[in-house]
Amino acid sequence: MRHLKGRTAFITGGGSGIGLGIARALLKAGMNVVIADILEPHLEEASRSLGNPANLLPLTLDVTDRTAFAEAADAATRRFGNIHLLINNAGVALTGPIEQANHNDWEWVFGVNLVGVANGISTFLPAMLAHGEGGHIVNTASTSGLLPHAGAAIYSASKAAVIALSEALCAELAPKNIAVSVLCPGPVNSRIGESARTRPDSLAHSGYDTPLAPPVAEGIAHLFQSPDEIGERVRQGIENDALFILTHSEYRAGLQERSEALFRAIPDTAENPEFKAIFSSLIHNPAYQK
Ligand code: NAI
Repeated sequence: MRHLKGRTAFITGGGSGIGLGIARALLKAGMNVVIADILEPHLEEASRSLGNPANLLPLTLDVTDRTAFAEAADAATRRFGNIHLLINNAGVALTGPIEQANHNDWEWVFGVNLVGVANGISTFLPAMLAHGEGGHIVNTASTSGLLPHAGAAIYSASKAAVIALSEALCAELAPKNIAVSVLCPGPVNSRIGESARTRPDSLAHSGYDTPLAPPVAEGIAHLFQSPDEIGERVRQGIENDALFILTHSEYRAGLQERSEALFRAIPDTAENPEFKAIFSSLIHNPAYQK
């Protein structure tokens, strides 16, 4: 989506951290911006920090609530008209030994990080296709989805699912004039460590004594990127219709190791040309050719 000015974006988890950084970058680019967040204090603080401009609409929303999502979409459309850009960014983190996790831990993290994204897509995509002005969906995953790591199995799995979802959607929606990007940031200064504040009462009982993402270890916060840096990177990714929006060059070696491990796992057997021809659309995702 090359021209952002005058178009409208809807950002979940827009009240803090990366979502707020993206909101700032898109407002600067001249877009109307809806920030939707489960925590009203985050929305109030974010609106103040963005200067309460007329082209900003804060809305309270829990992304796991499909009815509320539809109502938020209606409110956004009443205010700004057609929605062109959906940023499924709301997410929560939980880490710890996997054997201690209970069903509530799985359900909460997947409910927000994956089903929340699905809810955004099913709420906005039909109208985006119907208005015919083109559109773009950005899903926030994580480098943890590309390079899953010990101690974060549930989180990494939820983010890997968001990456796969985005890659499939990119291939499917490009011919319909809807671009798809997946944002995979490394460490960013935000409130992700306070995620447990938004955990619903129905899933409150955790397998962990202290169901919190670990606080940032002292002395390393300066190594984290700022939400505004990520916001600018996302704006560029949208303008370039990039499938993958990565933020940290330091992960290059890990990504290479993973790709090489995958290649080493390919069986050393002759390829069947008929199979390759018939399953070509499963082998080649046009989104990788850009
Ligand atoms: P943050 O905690 O500062 O912002 C997330 C916002 O989402 C908060 O305002 C929170 O109230 C809201 N939220 C939580 N649950 C929600 C729900 N059910 N419905 C609506 N809003 C909800 O954290 P951050 O870091 O900005 O996180 C944004 C996204 O970035 C998440 O998806 C996270 O997994 C991802 N991410 C963060 C990284 C980091 O180092 N901070 C690294 C990689 C990915």
